[in-house]
Amino acid sequence: MNPTQEEMEEEQRHFANVISTFRSYAQYTLSANNRRRKDIYTLPKADQDLLDALGYKKKLDEVDGYILKNADFLDKIVSDPAIFGHSLDDGDEAATDHSHSHSHGHSHETASHSHSHSHAAPQAQRRKRPTESDMDKLRSTMKQLVRDWSEEGNVEREVCYKPMKEALVKHFENVSMEERRNLHVLVPGSGLGRLSFDVAQMGFACQANEFSHYMLLTSYFILNKTAAVNEHTFYPYVHSFSNAPNMKSIAQAITIPDVNPSSLPPGSNFSLVAGDFEEIFGSPEQEEAWDAVLTCFFIDTAKNIVNYLRILHRILAPGGVWINLGPLLWHWENNNTNDPSIELDMEEVKTLARQIGFEISNEKTIDTTYTNNAQSMLGYVYHASFWTATKI
Ligand SMILES: C[S@@+](CC[C@H](N)C(=O)[O-])C[C@H]1O[C@@H](n2cnc3c(N)ncnc32)[C@H](O)[C@@H]1O
Repeated sequence: MNPTQEEMEEEQRHFANVISTFRSYAQYTLSANNRRRKDIYTLPKADQDLLDALGYKKKLDEVDGYILKNADFLDKIVSDPAIFGHSLDDGDEAATDHSHSHSHGHSHETASHSHSHSHAAPQAQRRKRPTESDMDKLRSTMKQLVRDWSEEGNVEREVCYKPMKEALVKHFENVSMEERRNLHVLVPGSGLGRLSFDVAQMGFACQANEFSHYMLLTSYFILNKTAAVNEHTFYPYVHSFSNAPNMKSIAQAITIPDVNPSSLPPGSNFSLVAGDFEEIFGSPEQEEAWDAVLTCFFIDTAKNIVNYLRILHRILAPGGVWINLGPLLWHWENNNTNDPSIELDMEEVKTLARQIGFEISNEKTIDTTYTNNAQSMLGYVYHASFWTATKI
C-alpha cells in the first residue's frame, strides 16, 4: 500500500527530528552537565570548598571534554543524511513531536514508518528542541553500540547471540557450508545489526529488518562507512553519575568496532530492509520466503502479538525454524498515543504460538543483561526465554 502524502510528511518530519537530535547532542548534554556546576553555587561556601577539594568541579570539566568527543563521533554518523533518500531542505528546522515518551531498559523508538520517500518538510515549521525522550533514544543508541560492536559487549553477545547462532547451525546441521548461502535468514528488530552480520559471516543469506531511524543511521554508519577495527572512540557512560563507583566507570572509553564490518567473505549475502516488520513481512509475497527467523529481544515490541506470531509462522518455509530469545517487556504498555497493546504472559505467548502452528522445543531460560555498563553499581538481569520453534 502506497503511503499517503500526510504519512510521507510525517516520516520526513520524524527523520529530520532524529537528525536534529544527533546534532543538538553537544548543546543539550553540555547544558545538563552545566546544571551540576550551577548547583554547586547554591550550596554554602564551606560545602563548595569541600567539593572543590574533592575535585568535583574538575571532574565536571573533564566530562565536558568527553561530551564534545561524543558529539564529534555522533556528527560523523549524520554527516550525510541524504543517503537515506530524505530531503533535509529544512534541515534541523523541521519536526513535530512524533515520539512517545515510553522508555524501558531495552525499548527503542516505537513509532516510525516504513516508507523511504523523499519529501521536503513544509516550510512553515520552526526548529523544535529535542525532548528528553529524543535524547534518551540517542544515549541508548550509544549503549547499543557497546552491545553490538565493542569488545566490552562480547559478554552480552556470547550470552544472547551465541545460543541463537548455535541453534541455527544445529537446525541445519545437514546443510554444507557451501549450501548455507541458499538458506534465507531474517532478523527482525535487528538493532545495530551485529547478530545479522554474524549470521551472514557464517555463510547464510541474511536480511536484517529495523525501523528506528536512530538504529538505521547508526548501523549504516558502522556497516558501510567504517573500514577498520577500533576506528571510533566514544564515552557512553558520561550521561549519568548515578551508581558510579568511581570516575573510571563514568569516563570509560569504548572503541568500536571490534571486527572489521567490511570483512564479510566475498559472495556473502547480507542486506537490511528498513521499515515496520508487520507492514513489510505481512505482505503475501513474503509467504514461506524464509528458512529461519531469529528474534532477539523483539517479540515484545508487538502491539498485537497474535499478528506478530501469525506473520512469523506464515513467512517460514516448510522445515523452517524460528529461534527466539527475549523477555516480555511490552513496549506499548501504558503508551500515551492510544495505541492498542496486548500484554500476554510467557505461558500465554507459547500457548498462542502452538495454536498458530509452531512446535516449540529446546526451551530454556537465559539470564542476561541488556546494554549494561559492567562497571555500574546497578545491573538489571532479564530471565529471558529461549526456544527453537518449527512450523507444523
Ligand atoms: C530491544 S531492541 C533489540 C535489538 C537487537 N535485536 C538486540 O538484541 O540488540 C528491539 C528493536 O526492534 C526494533 N523494532 C521495534 N518494533 C519494530 C517493528 N515493528 N519493525 C521493525 N523493527 C522494530 C526497535 O527499533 C529496536 O531496535
